Amino acid sequence: MALANLRDLLADAKAKNYAVGSFSIANMEMVLGVIKAAEETKSPIILQIAEVRLNYSPLALIGPLMVAAAKRAKVPVAVHLDHGTTLECIKQALELGFTSVMFDGSHLPLEENIEKTKKVVEMAKPYGAAVEAEIGCVGGSEDGSKDIAMRCTSPAQAAKFYSATEVDALAIAIGNAHGFYKEAPNLRFDILENVRGCVDVPLVLHGGTGISEEDFIRCHQSGIKKINIATATFASVEKNVRKGYTEGSIGGYYDLHAAEIEGAYQNAKKHMEIFYSVGKAE
Ligand code: 13P
Repeated sequence: MALANLRDLLADAKAKNYAVGSFSIANMEMVLGVIKAAEETKSPIILQIAEVRLNYSPLALIGPLMVAAAKRAKVPVAVHLDHGTTLECIKQALELGFTSVMFDGSHLPLEENIEKTKKVVEMAKPYGAAVEAEIGCVGGSEDGSKDIAMRCTSPAQAAKFYSATEVDALAIAIGNAHGFYKEAPNLRFDILENVRGCVDVPLVLHGGTGISEEDFIRCHQSGIKKINIATATFASVEKNVRKGYTEGSIGGYYDLHAAEIEGAYQNAKKHMEIFYSVGKAE
């Protein structure tokens, strides 16, 4: 159990036909809540943080916390850098013991994305760490600060990208976007099927917040093996804290601490059930 490699988690998800939840966290309470849900449901999970969020939670502080929490967990937990954009940050995550890193070159021309991703694959090798990359462009930015237009993945480009880089996981764009959807997402399952037909690599779905249960299930039964959830966890934590203050159950700091853990726990547990990861860590 404990600190796991993304490659192993995704291979198991492929063999047993489920998806691993990749939960973005911002503080210790969220880490505790997500791991509590994983241990209770016996789910393998991924703990992740995006480079853009490190202004709030510095990597030198949150990184060791994530790795330590994974090491003492009773289920396999991979620790992942989400949306790495600079080689410095990726290197720092690898040095801290993250078991996977994402290089996000989705906004770059294909050849440049390939070249930079290859560099990251080489960087990760001595650490034994896995690499995720993105092809096409998931809508919005991870923290909502940029209005990035969604651009669906071209299956031919995905095939070319994968054969050149041999990444361990490939994030694709099929109508998904980060943050709350303004209208219900219309996922392009035809593109997912085409990409899956061209590339034999575990696929990643970003922008999990707001996707229906039915669509999640269809995704993980069609080759998506890692599903990222961020906004829904932050919202669940906030909502639970607000409820605690409204109902008067938060009387002091440690009630607030418990309410944050509970908010993260509830949201993570709900997603583990939908992803069929429950019991897979037994
Ligand atoms: P959401 O914020 O929409 O859940 O997206 C999470 C994500 O994809 C992080 O990379």
